Amino acid sequence: MRVLSGIQPSGKLHLGNYFGMMKQCVDLQKKGEVYVFIANYHALTTVSDPARLRQDTMDVAIDFLACGLDPAHTVFFRQSDVPEVQELTWLLSIVCPVGLLERAHSYKDKLAHGKEATHGLFAYPVLMAADILLYQSDIVPVGKDQKQHLEITRDLAIKFNLKFGETFKVPGPYIPEAVAIVPGTDGQKMSKSYGNTIELSATPKQIKTAIMSIVTDSTPMESPKDPETCNVYKLYQLVADPAQVEEMAAKLRAGGYGYGDAKKALLAAFNARFADFRERRAALEADPAGVERILQAGAERARAEARRILKAARKAVGLE
Ligand code: ADP
Ligand code: TRP
Repeated sequence: MRVLSGIQPSGKLHLGNYFGMMKQCVDLQKKGEVYVFIANYHALTTVSDPARLRQDTMDVAIDFLACGLDPAHTVFFRQSDVPEVQELTWLLSIVCPVGLLERAHSYKDKLAHGKEATHGLFAYPVLMAADILLYQSDIVPVGKDQKQHLEITRDLAIKFNLKFGETFKVPGPYIPEAVAIVPGTDGQKMSKSYGNTIELSATPKQIKTAIMSIVTDSTPMESPKDPETCNVYKLYQLVADPAQVEEMAAKLRAGGYGYGDAKKALLAAFNARFADFRERRAALEADPAGVERILQAGAERARAEARRILKAARKAVGLE
């Protein structure tokens, strides 16, 4: 089974990214062959500061390795180190109906938020399809918001195979229901565009500030509370042990337990859960050359595989 996923280096990674995608990749390392890449070509559609792109790319690499991605088991690389993906993007563009891209939620959303309608933004899903098909991936762990992009990928693979003969494996998504959408401090989907994130690399003080700012309702301390509508509890479910989660649910239901108490418990659980992460992150940050070596070695392995599939696609269309 081959697993592949990518993440854009367009800001600091947060709990939503961790539970929505990074943890899935790390856990799947035991079950299959995992490919993970940093989607810096994609990030160019929204980031126009070269120094920032370089820094964010390094930060994503460090965050991912600190989370437990093991380069001995996983092919970890920078998207732009395998330029073959651009040629495959073109070969897929040939079979991609404009209407399919016009219906993409993420594209429409970005325009609604005032982004310029560039060709790069429009063709974003075609590049993503090339990422996935270039490595014959079976499953692609991503959060719910990427599901439509996977459907477009499947459509393009099917269309290409029909027109030019069986070339690509058609992938399926992989979205564990329990962590479909991680809420942010304001209760909306956690996202760097909403300023409601809890960042993995934040200092203990910043994490405390973020957790203490989580929005709660005005139920008084002594009254019973519904855990299912409590943002603090929703995040606690992700970071605490099942027994601790049960305990908090019971305390909230019973009353006499305030949201402030719940936030303190969440902070303690978060710190315990991410203690190892912080230690590994600090060590990696002190060794950027080592991180770069890991990315280079990953790119070499990825490229060998990419060349093989690209050759098959080139032959299928008659370029070879
Ligand atoms: P952001 O919304 O912060 O810009 P991205 O769109 O870059 O995050 O998402 C990167 C990956 O993390 C994707 O696979 C996405 O589905 C996942 N992800 C992002 N935010 C969340 C969230 N709040 N809950 C679950 N998964 C998420
Ligand atoms: N579009 C994805 C996101 O914003 C990142 C991405 C690019 C990706 N190429 C991919 C994810 C291929 C999975 C597979 O999160």
